Amino acid sequence: MQTKRWYVKENPKAITEAAELIKAGSLVAFPTETVYGLGADATNQQAVHKIFQAKNRPQDNPLIVHVPTKEDLKDLTTEIPAYTERLIDLFTPGPITFVLPSNGKCANNVTKGLATIAVRIPQHPVALEFLRQCKVPVAAPSANLSGKPSPTSAEHVWGDLQGKIAGILDDGSATLGMESTVIDCTGKTPIILRPGGITYEQIKKVVHDVSTLRHVNEGGVVHSPGMKYKHYAPDVPLWLVEGSPATLQEVIDTQSASSHVSVLVTHETMREITADQIIPLGNNLEEIASRLYDLLRSFKVGETDLIICEGLPKIGIGRAVMNRLEKAAVKHIH
Ligand code: TXA
Ligand code: MG
Repeated sequence: MQTKRWYVKENPKAITEAAELIKAGSLVAFPTETVYGLGADATNQQAVHKIFQAKNRPQDNPLIVHVPTKEDLKDLTTEIPAYTERLIDLFTPGPITFVLPSNGKCANNVTKGLATIAVRIPQHPVALEFLRQCKVPVAAPSANLSGKPSPTSAEHVWGDLQGKIAGILDDGSATLGMESTVIDCTGKTPIILRPGGITYEQIKKVVHDVSTLRHVNEGGVVHSPGMKYKHYAPDVPLWLVEGSPATLQEVIDTQSASSHVSVLVTHETMREITADQIIPLGNNLEEIASRLYDLLRSFKVGETDLIICEGLPKIGIGRAVMNRLEKAAVKHIH
């Protein structure tokens, strides 16, 4: 299959052509403020099936449905708890996904047999216009091959899925660079299933009794199927090291004896360590979040044997960053 690539800023017909392909049952990748999504008509079972094939996605992992308005969101659920209304009003459009009771309007392979559906209204103007023109809810996981870091540019999508999907709406790099927060709103109080763009602290200010999921299968129930898989893995093994610069240096020194080591550290730590290669993560947690996936994708087998990454504070967007690093890591020292 030839994959079409539309440059949104140069091509006024791009969004309309992409939406037409969605309506025809094809797959189109599109930009959002978090990461690029791989979209299909969520009411078309065959189209949704193609997503799982193209990504090689585990069959039991349900998809997030994307819609342009709050009315469209409500149109996919049976009920919305009062606290959810507040969260929706404050944080949408934006990087937050609500898990709500499903009314069965989407194809059943979107929800994978769950009674709930995950819905999100993205903030990105191109995503919103695309969704408006699709006129159907759009199921969209991150547009990467399963297991790889999520795509924060059309280039990443092209590398993973070119030849397997109908098209890519290219609008440059994603600003946030981390996926949306997934929040379960089916109970008396909300539970954050996946930390993301809207932070725990932001939500806590609005809904005091919000909790976070510590174990994917808490109480014997798999709350968010996707969270149990290995994710975000770079091609080169990554070790996550929490502790002082001295601890970090010790690990670097032992490994550097036999391997070419690349170290990912904050600007502050950079000055305090020595290694074969030192790469700055960024100046602050927001910048680190926006650059992380591109950095992880930049390592090539043969050039680097081991990535050693410094642990970061689990504050604000740092929770999402550490959640992804913990999943990307083959070893976690702390
Ligand atoms: O920012 C994002 O959320 C991006 C963009 C494209 O919107 N999408 C994304 O999708 O990250 P994906 O498929 O990579 O991650 C979706 C997560 C998975 O962990 C999945 O298990 C969970 O949401 N999920 C989907 N439906 C669910 C449901 N009904 N109940 C619980 N978790 C659900
Ligand atoms: Mg994903």
